[in-house]
Amino acid sequence: MPVPPVTPSRPSPAATNPVRVWDLPTRLFHWALLGGVVALFVSGKVGGNAMDWHVRLGLAAGALIAFRLVWGLVGGRWSRFASFVRGPVTVWRYLRGQLPAPAGHNPLGALSVLALLAVLALQVATGLVADDEIATVGPLNALVPEDWASWGTRWHTGPGQTLLLVLVGLHVAAIGFHGLVKKHNLVRPMLTGDQALPADTPPSRDSALTRLAALLLLGLCVAGAVWVARLGG
Ligand code: HEM
Ligand code: HEM
Repeated sequence: MPVPPVTPSRPSPAATNPVRVWDLPTRLFHWALLGGVVALFVSGKVGGNAMDWHVRLGLAAGALIAFRLVWGLVGGRWSRFASFVRGPVTVWRYLRGQLPAPAGHNPLGALSVLALLAVLALQVATGLVADDEIATVGPLNALVPEDWASWGTRWHTGPGQTLLLVLVGLHVAAIGFHGLVKKHNLVRPMLTGDQALPADTPPSRDSALTRLAALLLLGLCVAGAVWVARLGG
């Protein structure tokens, strides 16, 4: 089968307009998650009194991840999983330069988003059952069988944190590669919300109403995290 012509990965500037791709809730989610994960690593390594903050921040990260999973179903067009999660064939064609970079996450970037969210969710879940055998015990530790708790603690302090560091490293390296080599700044849209795209690209909804809905959803996720924290008594 003949290979389809390589489409330029970026449209010419004359044909582009600023289009809203990342709604405000998605942007705030991202930068809050970044701050939270850094603080979680620092507090986890410092230990001692910092562990009280570690547990609170861990629950907050859990609430943020739950928010993002639901926002991936009901949020702005380009934040929805259905708009960016693609099968292996599309990823392969994108890697071979046979597909233009779409609005929002590209097919490979989408995989890294899913991997980051999954590994973070596992880190929160294992934190909930972890026990450092000094002073800090996850709120669900006493509610699960002992071997789950010890597996969870081992994962949380071993492969879980290593995998997260590797994924974050790849994530930052990929963004640097796009900026420096492909001259495609991905950070600016994550700050301003807008990306230069063909003018007929449909934007993500980002109105006062959708922002209010996001706030209510986040409130529910925080309430869920508080409820989980109290389950252990
Ligand atoms: C602990 C560190 C970090 C974590 C856990 C993290 C996590 C994530 C996640 C989950 C997404 C998907 C966003 C969504 O659709 O909701 C994302 C996207 C993004 N992140 Fe990060 N991030 C981190 C650090 C950074 C840093 C340091 C930068 C900038 C230098 C950055 C820039 C971006 C950009 C530009 C995107 C959008 C990529 C695209 O256009 O496809 N991130 N990040
Ligand atoms: C994304 C979220 C999280 C990250 C990135 C994270 C990261 C870490 C790190 C780096 C450590 C230190 C491991 C070491 O000693 O080398 C740690 C320890 C610990 N974390 Fe988390 N954590 C997260 C969420 C949570 C949550 C939600 C809880 C509980 C509610 C929790 C409870 C604990 C406990 C009990 C320890 C001590 C375990 C031990 O030393 O045996 N963490 N965490």
